[in-house]
Amino acid sequence: MKPTIEWADGKVVMIDQRRLPLEEVYVECGTVEEVARAIETMVIRGAPAIGVAAAMGVALGVSALKPSADLTTEFSKIVKRLERTRPTARNLFWALERMDRVFRESRPLPLADLKARLVEEALEIEREDEAICRRIGTNGADLVKDGDSVLTHCNAGGLATAGYGTAVGVIRSAWEAGKKVRVLVDETRPFLQGARLTAWELEKIGVPYRVIADNMAGWLMQRGEVSLAVVGADRIARNGDTANKIGTYTVAVLCRENAIPFYVAAPISTFDFSLSDGSGIPIEERPAAEVREVNGRLIVPPAAAVRNPAFDVTPARFITAIVTEEGIVRPPFERSLDALRGRS
Ligand code: MRU
Repeated sequence: MKPTIEWADGKVVMIDQRRLPLEEVYVECGTVEEVARAIETMVIRGAPAIGVAAAMGVALGVSALKPSADLTTEFSKIVKRLERTRPTARNLFWALERMDRVFRESRPLPLADLKARLVEEALEIEREDEAICRRIGTNGADLVKDGDSVLTHCNAGGLATAGYGTAVGVIRSAWEAGKKVRVLVDETRPFLQGARLTAWELEKIGVPYRVIADNMAGWLMQRGEVSLAVVGADRIARNGDTANKIGTYTVAVLCRENAIPFYVAAPISTFDFSLSDGSGIPIEERPAAEVREVNGRLIVPPAAAVRNPAFDVTPARFITAIVTEEGIVRPPFERSLDALRGRS
């Protein structure tokens, strides 16, 4: 199987996550606009993977520029287009800021070298992401005991990153260390990232799992069938408040009520140290059709109005710990995240 996303012969190739698990189809993007559309329409999704796609989109856009172009103006148009794709994932903006720094540093170079430098940086972001996920996995594996039943929400696996995954990386790393874990996968309505993507990945890795409808988690927790929950993140504020897939907050509250540890696993590139708390995190509203339809078939009365916020914010007080590539961070998060920021 090819990776989630790769740079191949001057194109960006991604597995089409909308068609999994039934079909493994790859989409080739040859322009910035095609990469931007792929992010918007969820061909590729998951905060770190969106960051890698955006960096490759910048490299692609600059590669197409002619020597006569006003480079600074064109670069800014490319970045602005990619910024408009999805507002919540911090990694998107982090990757664009990193590409912007490299552009400014390399601006005096001949155009061919500037282009090569940007491609190199995008590939470096991709390579780093996989290595970071493996470190998150190793750090988090200690939180999982032999025989544990782990609940996860959405997909924070290899498909949501350049490979290996964050929350799924923790599960995978525990499994690879020989712990017999079982996973409960929330189906994650409306886009079904759990049922379609996490289940597909766990099957490939060989970790035993069962998919549950989102509204079953509480009952299973009450019955003692969940040892811990681990989820990914799209943006984490300085106080630990965490935006992740809609429904994450519900899982966290249920964990607290049932005295079950609730962990977030994320790279430092997901932290937004400019925000003191989660109230400033922009929450994306996605198209109504995602709620109104399943597999293209209407499931509500034709005139029904719906809401479709794609993320929620879990207050830090519900989070037992955050697993990063630099180690496990515990409350009070203001203090521990400040120390982490100093190290990153
Ligand atoms: O809308 P999505 O599928 O991009 O949302 C993805 C999530 O919420 C993930 O949990 C998050 O991005 C972390 S991925 C390692």
